[in-house]
Amino acid sequence: IHNVIFDSSKEASVLVAHEIANLIQRKEELGEPCILGLATGSSPIKVYEELVRLHKEEGLSFANVVTFNLDEYYPMDKSNIQSYHYFMHEHLFNHVNILPENINIPDGNVSSEELQQYCIDYEMKIKSYGGLDFQLLGIGRTGHIGFNEPGSHINSGTRSITLDHLTRVDAAPAFLGIDNVPRKAITMGIGTVRAAKRIVLLAWGISKADILKSTIEGEMSSQVPATYLQEHNNTTFVLDTEASSELT
Ligand code: F6R
Repeated sequence: IHNVIFDSSKEASVLVAHEIANLIQRKEELGEPCILGLATGSSPIKVYEELVRLHKEEGLSFANVVTFNLDEYYPMDKSNIQSYHYFMHEHLFNHVNILPENINIPDGNVSSEELQQYCIDYEMKIKSYGGLDFQLLGIGRTGHIGFNEPGSHINSGTRSITLDHLTRVDAAPAFLGIDNVPRKAITMGIGTVRAAKRIVLLAWGISKADILKSTIEGEMSSQVPATYLQEHNNTTFVLDTEASSELT
């Protein structure tokens, strides 16, 4: 893992957005689709803001972009304002020229009978494009990436998972109370993420400092799933000063 530390998350996010924009344009020049793995939550918001600005003000086209989101709560309706489906449209997809058929977000409404096959199909669809060119990540205080909670296997694929208590505590404000937070989610696996050609993890603020120390300086272990990024050869952690404050 390579770390870069910025004074402001805004400045950092703009640089990450520019890396993504350059990749989209390079792929466009090659006449190839650009396959992006995307995250929700507070961490990537300013990256999406800058991508929208690049589209509106500098002509960045998303016509060749195919996206796969990391995760979605389960069960969850697309129209629910707490859904990741809603989040992505609000922050990015409604404001750029991406083709609707190129947007992939796990469906939180699939029936429990269909769930397992649905997850296998999601994984296969990513593989059918030759894998992810770029994966954007945040990190949870449990050490999750996507919703790969402690105990997740290094080679795990897209599947349903039970959310950790701490993850549900952190989501509680958005759901107006922990009782309203779904107990499960669909998530890409650690193996899915690790197959990406390039990974950028974003973390801002003091609440992430402890888990970043364990992730970067601790031993690789399923107890901190993000440690499985240590062995990926093209991963950068983009941090602000506070998030990096426990690193030696
Ligand atoms: C979201 C996701 C999660 C978040 C993590 C951090 O799609 O996969 O792993 O990235 O929970 O969330 P924030 O950015 O809200 O601190």
